[in-house]
Amino acid sequence: MAFDDRIRVKLRDRSVFTRIAGVGRPLLLLHGYPLDHRLWDATIPLLSQEYLCIAPDFRGFGNNAEEPYSFSLQDLARDCWELADCLQVRQPLLVCGLSMGGYVAMEFVDQLPERICGVILTNTRCNADDVNGQAARREIASRALREGVSSVVSSMLNKLFHASAQNRIPVAVKLVQQMMTDTPASTIAWAQLAMANRRDFTDLLSSWDMPVACVGGISDTICPPEIIDQMHRRLKHSQKYLLAESAHLTPLELPRAFAETVQQFVHGL
Ligand code: MLT
Repeated sequence: MAFDDRIRVKLRDRSVFTRIAGVGRPLLLLHGYPLDHRLWDATIPLLSQEYLCIAPDFRGFGNNAEEPYSFSLQDLARDCWELADCLQVRQPLLVCGLSMGGYVAMEFVDQLPERICGVILTNTRCNADDVNGQAARREIASRALREGVSSVVSSMLNKLFHASAQNRIPVAVKLVQQMMTDTPASTIAWAQLAMANRRDFTDLLSSWDMPVACVGGISDTICPPEIIDQMHRRLKHSQKYLLAESAHLTPLELPRAFAETVQQFVHGL
C-alpha cells in the first residue's frame, strides 16, 4: 500500500480525525452507528491500490469522541464537504456510506451533487422512520444516558453479523464490540435523535443523475434485501449487489467481495 496515514484535519470550528490511504480517485467512506472509521479497516488495504480512501470519524465517534453535542445528519454531511475541501480534493468524488453513513451520504450528495461521480449505498435505506420508529429511538437515547452504553449496544451485535462470523472472523467481531463500547453515551443519544429526524429520500432519489450502487447482505435483518431493492428501484442509474454470507456489516464481513463489488461498479461508470 503506497500511503496510509491517520491524521487530524482542522476545519473551521473543529478538527476531524480521518484515515487517509492510497492513490487515485477520491473515495469517501462513511461509517455506520455506533461505529467509527475502523469499520473500513479490512477494505481499505484492498481499495487503496486504486483509490484515495478517506475514512473520517463523524462528530462524537471514534477519535472525535470528545465532541458529543447535538448534531443533525446534514451537519455530518457538511463536515465531510469541509474535510474534502481542507484535503484539497478537486476531482469528482465517489462516496460510500454504510447504514447511518448511507443516510449521511444521501445528504452529502444532496448538498453538492455536481461534485459527485458515483455513490455506493451499502446496508442502508432511503425511507425515514415512522412515528413508532422515532419513539423507539428516543427511548434508546434516554436509556443510553440513564443506564450507559452497554445497555443499548449489547443486544445489537448478533444483528450486525452473519451467523458464521463468530467462527470465521472473530477479530472483526471483537473490533465491532470495541467500537461500540468506545462510543460515548451522549454520542449514542445524539445520533439516535439525528436519525429519528432524518429526511425521507424515497422520492428525492429519483431525481439523482449520477450512477449508484445499492449493496446489501442477503442475511441483513436491519436493512434487508427488499429495502435495498426499494432504493434500487427509485434510482435512474442503479446497480444492485446482494452478497451472500453477510448481514449488516458487509464491508467488514466480506472485505474482498465488497472491494470487488466497488471495483466492478466503478469500472462500469
Ligand atoms: C447503523 O448501522 O448505522 C444503524 O443501524 C442505522 C439505524 O439505526 O438506522
